[in-house]
Amino acid sequence: MAAYRPPSIASSEITPHQVYLSRRTFMAGAAAGLALSGAGSALAAPLVGKPTSYKVDDKLTPQKDVTTYNNFYEFGVGKADPAQNSGEFKPRPWTIEVGGLVAKPQVIDIETVMKEFAMEERIYRMRCVEAWSMVIPWIGFPISALLDRVEPLGSAKYVAFQTVVRPEEMPGQGGFFQALDWPYVEGLRLDEARNPLAILATGLYGETLPNQNGAPIRLVVPWKYGFKGIKSIVKITLTEKEPPSTWNLSAPKEYGFYANVNPLVDHPRWSQATERRIGEGDGLFGGRRLDTLPFNGYADQVASLYSGMDLKKSF
Ligand code: MTE
Repeated sequence: MAAYRPPSIASSEITPHQVYLSRRTFMAGAAAGLALSGAGSALAAPLVGKPTSYKVDDKLTPQKDVTTYNNFYEFGVGKADPAQNSGEFKPRPWTIEVGGLVAKPQVIDIETVMKEFAMEERIYRMRCVEAWSMVIPWIGFPISALLDRVEPLGSAKYVAFQTVVRPEEMPGQGGFFQALDWPYVEGLRLDEARNPLAILATGLYGETLPNQNGAPIRLVVPWKYGFKGIKSIVKITLTEKEPPSTWNLSAPKEYGFYANVNPLVDHPRWSQATERRIGEGDGLFGGRRLDTLPFNGYADQVASLYSGMDLKKSF
């Protein structure tokens, strides 16, 4: 596998202001021996170093591919549609309603999110159920930090997510042909959402999240198929029962609730054993062919979440 080459410009130049600030706060705190408490964490949750598991070494997928080869059916069903049709979408102002089985339900403004949650860069392998993959440098923060803020009740077992409905700005939600039922919805078990790999992303490639990638905030769960990564989130609800998910509602035999990347469980209409890495090589469909790894290569961090479960049944 080709080694990842770091960009030749200083990280302060490609890092959004907020990430840069958080890093500086971390470094200043560490210098004063305060990395985990007091002044070092005043800006937001403390950043504790950079575990390598949050940055895979694979070559990054070119930014152009990450932002022009998308699935976002609210803007059309073609891969090029989201980049072409999302120009009128307004990701500001924006609020996220967080409620359900929590002690402190609240409506959080996206500006508060940007200010109060420590953003980090995470370089994740992403695997689509359509058997292609990318490696994306996301900017985001663990969902756990948001959950801590609302204090889930003991009865909460799942986290449900919902995308905005704005047919006037999202052409795929208006008109005669409707590819899916809106709003797009998704869910995770609470312990999955609490896994430190699961993040809410607000940027990629050191920049604010483009509309086509789910501005201003979207879910990123690197051990699951891409369709779990719900975009443009306006509502997060803690529930006792397993919440519905859009692709499971639309084709239950093809898309399960768990959607863990699993080379041993084929999609009913195609194999999941291999994947095509977008933007690498000029194969027949333009991509290097790789073996798909269980949990997309993140088994060490997440396999224990599913111990005792039959992952062929809970697919
Ligand atoms: N979220 C919404 N709201 N609508 C969608 O159509 N598509 C999903 C997911 N999130 C989708 C969505 C699918 S199928 C994939 S593969 C990923 O977004 C793609 O994310 P990307 O375009 O940023 O790579």
